[in-house]
Amino acid sequence: MAVIRSSYAPGGGTRPPKVFGRDDLRERLRVSIERLRIGRPVKSLVIVGLRGVGKTVLLSQMLRDAESLGVHTVYVEAPEGRSLPSLLAPQLRTALLCMSTVQEAKDSANRALRALSGFAKSLKVTYQDIEVSSDFEPEAGLADNGDLVGDLSTLLTQVGEAVRHARTALVIFIDDLQYVVEPELVALIIALHRVSQLGLPIAIVGAGLPQLRRRVGSAKSYAERLFDYPEISLHQPLKAK
Ligand SMILES: Nc1ncnc2c1ncn2[C@@H]1O[C@H](COP(=O)(O)OP(=O)(O)OP(=O)(O)O)[C@@H](O)[C@H]1O
Ligand SMILES: [Mg+2]
Repeated sequence: MAVIRSSYAPGGGTRPPKVFGRDDLRERLRVSIERLRIGRPVKSLVIVGLRGVGKTVLLSQMLRDAESLGVHTVYVEAPEGRSLPSLLAPQLRTALLCMSTVQEAKDSANRALRALSGFAKSLKVTYQDIEVSSDFEPEAGLADNGDLVGDLSTLLTQVGEAVRHARTALVIFIDDLQYVVEPELVALIIALHRVSQLGLPIAIVGAGLPQLRRRVGSAKSYAERLFDYPEISLHQPLKAK
């Protein structure tokens, strides 16, 4: 399968010449991707750690790992002041356009693209920063109610159907998840819950400051079952002998 490159070049931490350590988490993602591909459930990850410990560097490496395994990826960095829908929409579009070239996934990818058009159009009132080319006509009633919780769940479900038909997996990386405001975080968790109930091959790998664990956990009671929260600390490079 072709390697799909994300159109987003992660910023944040300067990429070190070599990413040291973190093998356990990288291996864990590899196993999750294999499980998703055969329709098995996985837990999503919220990687937490203090400022500067290497979250962005790790997330960028995991993005490269996922790409080299040939699955679809979306990578967003959540800066303060940008809405999650506006960050996700163009990235999802790119992934869906790619899936629509796969014969078995064409119809479901096109339907997901229609859902995306409806999503962007109806939420534009609330999130003025949504900019996504709507090359597909929205389908009435499909992710276009203007309510983030329902619409994001419908959109992600449609995306998941396309991913399943393409016989692959989608990993959504979100850096600096602590900047995502409460209602958007809740909508994301609800959407992921729906997708996992339906057994669709999508996982999220988020990263952010340690308070995220409490925020995600208290946003929805079932978030505990959806996510693990591995904590990373400063990597201690081995001293050269
Ligand atoms: N695994 C690693 N191997 C080698 N160098 C690393 C590793 N992790 C981090 N670094 C170094 O540490 C710097 C800071 O890492 P990074 O920006 O990923 O931290 P962060 O946890 O994302 O910080 P913030 O909380 O501010 O976003 C990087 O620029 C890189 O030079
Ligand atoms: Mg960072």
